[in-house]
Amino acid sequence: MKQTQWWKKAVVYQIYPRSFCDSNGDGIGDIPGITSKLDYLKTLGIDVIWLSPVYASPGDDNGYDISDYRAINPEFGTMADFDEMLAQAHKRGIRIIMDLVVNHSSDEHEWFIQSRKDKTNPYRDYYYWRDGKDGAPPNNWGSVFSGPAWDCDENSGQYYLHLFSKKQPDLNWENPIVREEIYDMMRWWLDKGVDGFRMDVISFISKVQGLPDGPVSEGMLYGDFGPYSVNGPRVHEFLREMNCEVLSKYDVMTVGETAGVTIEEAKKYAAADLRELSMVFQFEHSCLVVKDGTKWSDKKIDLRELKQVMAKWQTGLEGKAWNSLYWENHDQPRSISRYGDDGEYWEKSAKTLAVCLHMMQGTPYIYQGQEIGMTNTVFNSPDDFRDIEAINAYHEFTQEKGIPEDVMMRRIAKEGRDNARTPMQWDDSHSAGFTSGEPWIQANPNYKEINAQKQVGDTKSIFATYQAMIRLRKEFDVVTNGKFILLDPDGDKHFSYIRETGNEKLLIACNFTREEIQVEVPEDMQGSEVLYCNYETNPSGKMPALRPWESIVLYKLKK
Ligand code: NOJ
Repeated sequence: MKQTQWWKKAVVYQIYPRSFCDSNGDGIGDIPGITSKLDYLKTLGIDVIWLSPVYASPGDDNGYDISDYRAINPEFGTMADFDEMLAQAHKRGIRIIMDLVVNHSSDEHEWFIQSRKDKTNPYRDYYYWRDGKDGAPPNNWGSVFSGPAWDCDENSGQYYLHLFSKKQPDLNWENPIVREEIYDMMRWWLDKGVDGFRMDVISFISKVQGLPDGPVSEGMLYGDFGPYSVNGPRVHEFLREMNCEVLSKYDVMTVGETAGVTIEEAKKYAAADLRELSMVFQFEHSCLVVKDGTKWSDKKIDLRELKQVMAKWQTGLEGKAWNSLYWENHDQPRSISRYGDDGEYWEKSAKTLAVCLHMMQGTPYIYQGQEIGMTNTVFNSPDDFRDIEAINAYHEFTQEKGIPEDVMMRRIAKEGRDNARTPMQWDDSHSAGFTSGEPWIQANPNYKEINAQKQVGDTKSIFATYQAMIRLRKEFDVVTNGKFILLDPDGDKHFSYIRETGNEKLLIACNFTREEIQVEVPEDMQGSEVLYCNYETNPSGKMPALRPWESIVLYKLKK
């Protein structure tokens, strides 16, 4: 086994290529654009880029519907552009991990084109084809993107399964030939020199055969596929096979997007013995907004719940498996708007969120724009939405569920994925310096105030806080290895915790309110060294009180 654990000290930066940097003025971010920003990423200090899909794709779900796993989408450039980006990144000591989207392909992938031709086609069994029941789909499952999870193909009269859009048919992992095709493709990218994979909804790949109906919650139109296709019966077997056949032969990092993962499951996916993946993304904190089975709710996050969920994962995986740490990604709204304060305390709360997350145990992920404090955007009408999830949900909720349009607009403004997909804000010129043309999605109107140019080089900026957090992680082993102890678990004002090894101790205290608050500092941390504070001065390190959205990191060498 060649796998080492360099990724435990690494910080990952996620790039959503469509929205990062456009080099040719067509309004769509591209690979040469990314290459041109590698020095920016080096200045930030990150070690790894997670590149959201750049493969050939009809773009029904912005690249998460792949029609050729070994080709680059011409909108993003060429394979030569990709090779150049990889070489330039490696030259700067930055690794690149690819998005591996193999729960489903695009319906325009050659495998599916063949598969749908007729029932006897050799590719038929690459996907889930079933007969309907009395003119209805084979079971009651709903798709993540609204509507049923089945589509009827006129050709054969059979239905195919798609847990996401109908242009994203689910691959049949029960078929060993499908698995071998996928492993082969993975080897092809690894041989090219990529440094690992982020695996899209990898917890969905094994389905309970027989595909039984799922439970239907109140107010829901379809059954939940979760019990029969999340953390399914063979998922660990498949991942162990993939590890044995592919991953174990390379020095890579892998992170599974494991929606529906529990602590017990994570201990299998990301076990310390590395038989499956390096780490997983859990979704419990992101799902705190879910109410009545949907994220399209008015629910606000309660700090107590947030602390308890984060602490549960910190202590639950300690010594057994490895956590990934994130507030944001391309599927989540901006963290300042969700957990912080995007009004008066925009800057302080952005820094506090950085401190709070980056001092925990695990590998942190920074989503493009998070390092400069980008916030949720403004949608003036449904025509502003670009995301298939939001567009479908808007129709389903307003037309089929009777939710008033203004209420649904508000909910999408709060939780919609397009919040994360507005152009990266580079400077205060046209379209935030993202493109010289017309951007595929409008820039957040606040780009004149919030942009990278204003912050890089300014030691008091949010960007500088991210730099500082990355440095602290590298310098102090306790950040990687220390035990995590949550303080004040039932309080709803601050998120504070201890990290501790045999010879080092950290206290991290973060005020999540606009008030000045008292925090109990353990006796042995009184008067210790201040490693970071988001206010200019902290009088003594004694912390008599935390000012609005103040965060502080105290350090003590025990011996
Ligand atoms: C999870 C991805 O992160 C999301 O963007 C995508 O829509 C679905 N998987 C389907 O691939």
